[in-house]
Formats: sequence, C-alpha cells, structure tokens
Amino acid sequence: MQGCTGVAAAMMSCSFPQPCWSKGMNFPSKVCASISSNALSTRPQVTTFSNVKKSLKASHIGVGGDGSSFLGPSLSEADSEVHAIINKEKDRQFKSFDLIAFENFAPRAVMEAVGSCLTNKYSEGLPSNRYYAGNEHIDELEILCQERALAAFHVDGKNWGVNVQPLSGSPANLAVYTAILKPHDLLMDLELTHGGHLTHGHITPRGIRVSASSIYFESKPYRLDESTGAFLMMDMAHISGLVAASVVNNPFEFCDIVTTTTHKSLRGPRGGRIFFKKDSVHGVDLESAINKAVFPGLQGGPHNHKIAGLAVCLKNA
Ligand SMILES: Cc1ncc(COP(=O)(O)O)c(C=O)c1O
Repeated sequence: MQGCTGVAAAMMSCSFPQPCWSKGMNFPSKVCASISSNALSTRPQVTTFSNVKKSLKASHIGVGGDGSSFLGPSLSEADSEVHAIINKEKDRQFKSFDLIAFENFAPRAVMEAVGSCLTNKYSEGLPSNRYYAGNEHIDELEILCQERALAAFHVDGKNWGVNVQPLSGSPANLAVYTAILKPHDLLMDLELTHGGHLTHGHITPRGIRVSASSIYFESKPYRLDESTGAFLMMDMAHISGLVAASVVNNPFEFCDIVTTTTHKSLRGPRGGRIFFKKDSVHGVDLESAINKAVFPGLQGGPHNHKIAGLAVCLKNA
C-alpha cells in the first residue's frame, strides 16, 4: 500500500467498497451505491447521493453521542446479540464493585472520541509525513495529542519527544526493545513478582519464555551499573496518573525512555505511549529509532479514534 495515494490506496486496502473521500472531492456515485447495498444496511431503504450528503451534514451535529449521526442501522437493530452483551456488561460495571488495580472508568468525553468517525481513517506515518492524502485533521489531532502528552507529564518538548501511536502498553514496550536492541541482546528487567510485567522479559520459574520480550531477548533481573552503557527505561503504566498529578517521583528526571499504558490511572482509552529523550543516548538517536520501530516495525495505521480519546483524557490530566 505504500506509495499509493488518496482514494486508490484506501480502496485497495478494503475488502469491500467503503465510503472513501477527502476534502474537496466529489462523492463518487459508484461508491455511494455500494454504501447502501453492501455493508451499511440490512433494512430495505433507498439511499440516494443527496440522502448520504444529508446524513454527512448531520454528522457535524454530534461527534459520537447516541450514534444517530452515523450511517446505517443502530447497533441494536444491526446486531441484537452484541447489543445485549454490551448492555449486560454495562449493568455489571455499574452495579458491582470489582475494579481491579489496573482498570478504570473512562469519562464520557473519552468514550465519545473513541466511538467517533476517526476509526475510519488510515494514516500510516507521522504528522506531515503520511503515505496518502486526507490526513490534515488527523495530523492536527496527533500533534495536539503529542503536545498534551508532554504537558501532562511536565516535560519540555525541547528535550523530550513522544510517540502516541502504540496500540497498547505491550506493543509500546516491544517497540522500545526493537528500537534499541538486537535479537538476543540483554534486557535487564524487574522480576514479575517484584512489580515487573510480562513484557519486561519475564521467564517463568520453569524457564518458559512467555512473551516476545523474553523470546527475542535475553532477560536478567536488573541491578544497574551506569558504566555498562545501559539505557534506563521506565514503564509507568500503573502510576502515570500519579506522575501527571506530581504526587510520586518523576521518572523523566532519571530515565532515557518512559513508556505507559493510557487506560489505567490516567483514565484514557486503551492505548500506549512512548516518551524518549531528544538528545541521542549512547550514540543512539532514540527519536528516529523508536518512531521507526512503532511504524513500520511493529504497527500499521495508528488508531486515530484512540489518539482523539487520549487527547481528551490528557486535557483533563
Ligand atoms: C506495567 C505494565 N506494563 C505494560 C502492560 C501491558 O499493557 P497492555 O495490556 O495495554 O498491553 C501492563 C498491563 O497490565 C502493565 O501493568
């Protein structure tokens, strides 16, 4: 798909015709016809170009809300089984109290952003450097999210950068290892039972390598000696909300790289994030290495709806 532009790229990547258009383009009538006949409706209905245009205008009224601004039947009409399961889970979440230590309730504004039209857009690459057209709003969103991420953790954009695309905490950690290590290099990790995580190179007591971090790299419980030229990375997934609130020590004072999930104490959507020092460390340009490890190393298109949810959550952080 790389090297393709605009609608052609978007169409090539779809298994069935999807509504694809970008600013300034006329809505092609062929695609319009496929919207009504294919994926979007099981009910008999006449969809004309002007009806689609009307519903597109309506989508400016609400971002996510009750979903009435989107094309096609509602979830309860389109899939009563999934709808019923979601309702049961909602009931369970509101009527019971079993929030485990690393869960949280995302605020309504975050849920609206995550359920928005941003889920439709492909945007491989970084702001101003994408593989296809139609990303002007996505660029604006990602830059806003990056700025808010740096501000939320009180770090200066002159010294620190951030990649807000990792899909979750585990791929964020693997992206860092991919950026700065070669296969079988040494990963010094805090043991799982002492507060580490599976993605920190965990090997079970019986010697079984259970995550990519221990399958691809050699792991050893750490004791840092700075003369070894090691990189210091902190995974602050559980405490990132507390770091933002400045009630615990600030890892940015000590580390070269900081990773986090976004859905725990930060109360954002499910996602991950990697902060890196802008100056090279041990001769490694972390910014370039980490950005390349995220894409194309480990991921394709960023989940823009989650980047929007993250931006909303960081505004509150
Ligand atoms: C410290 C730590 N890092 C990484 C992860 C992985 O995050 P995710 O489940 O989003 O992949 C977790 C998840 O519990 C975690 O606690």
